[in-house]
Amino acid sequence: MGALQEQFDYFWGNDPFPRHIESVRVTALGKEGMVTELTKRLGKMPPEDRKHWGTVFNGIKQTFLRGYEEWRAFSEEFEINAQLMDDTVDVTLPVDPARLGTVHPVSQVMDELAEIFADLGFAVATGPEIEDDWHNFTALNIPESHPARAMHDTFYFPEALAKEGRRFLLRTHTSPVQIRTMMSEQPPIRIIAPGRVYRSDSDATHTPMFHQLEGLVIDRNIHMGHLKWTLETFIKAFFEVDDVTLRFRPSYFPFTEPSAEVDVGCSWEGGTLKIGGEASWLEILGSGMVHPRVIAACGLDPAEWQGFAFGAGIDRLAMLKYGMTDLRAFFDGDVRWLKHYGFSPFAVPTLSGGVGA
Ligand code: PHE
Repeated sequence: MGALQEQFDYFWGNDPFPRHIESVRVTALGKEGMVTELTKRLGKMPPEDRKHWGTVFNGIKQTFLRGYEEWRAFSEEFEINAQLMDDTVDVTLPVDPARLGTVHPVSQVMDELAEIFADLGFAVATGPEIEDDWHNFTALNIPESHPARAMHDTFYFPEALAKEGRRFLLRTHTSPVQIRTMMSEQPPIRIIAPGRVYRSDSDATHTPMFHQLEGLVIDRNIHMGHLKWTLETFIKAFFEVDDVTLRFRPSYFPFTEPSAEVDVGCSWEGGTLKIGGEASWLEILGSGMVHPRVIAACGLDPAEWQGFAFGAGIDRLAMLKYGMTDLRAFFDGDVRWLKHYGFSPFAVPTLSGGVGA
């Protein structure tokens, strides 16, 4: 409300100006108004008095009418001016900042990973989150009785929904995308597959849904040196440090042979993590040379084609790079957390800018 309007309301209360004036007019000049009343009395007066009082009453009437017209004109002008003042824009006022959302750290890190691997010639592949046990286990050299099946706390769909002997489940890792890619494409293959995976597990470092990045290279004459170089290049670019030390620890996965878990060298300075050095080690991914049985299950000849694969936890990588400590906060949807750790939608990761810049 404008300043003029405020003064106006203070003066006239809730009675809108024109209506107030109108009521004055009715009181004076209306059918039962004061002036009308006087004019009526004129008829009952002796004729010799009529002329005199007639002139007097008419003078009063004219005064009222003139006053009424003046007030009406004034009030109209007043209304217009008040309206004009209200409509004025004060261009010196600070603007209301547009509220922008932020990009979730997981989405940001996925973009960073895609950028890094695109530079190495990797395409992005996808697969369904509702998988069947053949793609998630069997084709990956984890037969039905294999203890590795029990190792993954799998969310299964009811047995009654099974089709052609295949049981549906929420994929426990992104490795089934290896199978789908090898079955639908001819080598050479170079892909990464980022996505959601599910395991029945929940504490400060485990959530029932989390994110993995699968990597797969299938070609002729691929060996572990290629795997090592690729992972080193990836980790250096991702953490934006040159002196990264990686430790390859012998491990076991049914779908790779040999298998290695990879730790990144780091140190803790006053509670903050620094990537680099060899003071401490953090496990970041599983990897290995794709098992010949997996290659054969996809209809390829393992004598001709071989390659490497790896699987990294995306949420883990995000936590390490951006210093977030509680994994559960990733999926709480608390806007305060998102505002603090989120990224500007305009800060698109690029290699030339340092991917995280
Ligand atoms: N799928 C494995 C896991 O979820 C990770 C992995 C992928 C290991 C590819 C080796 C090769 O733990």
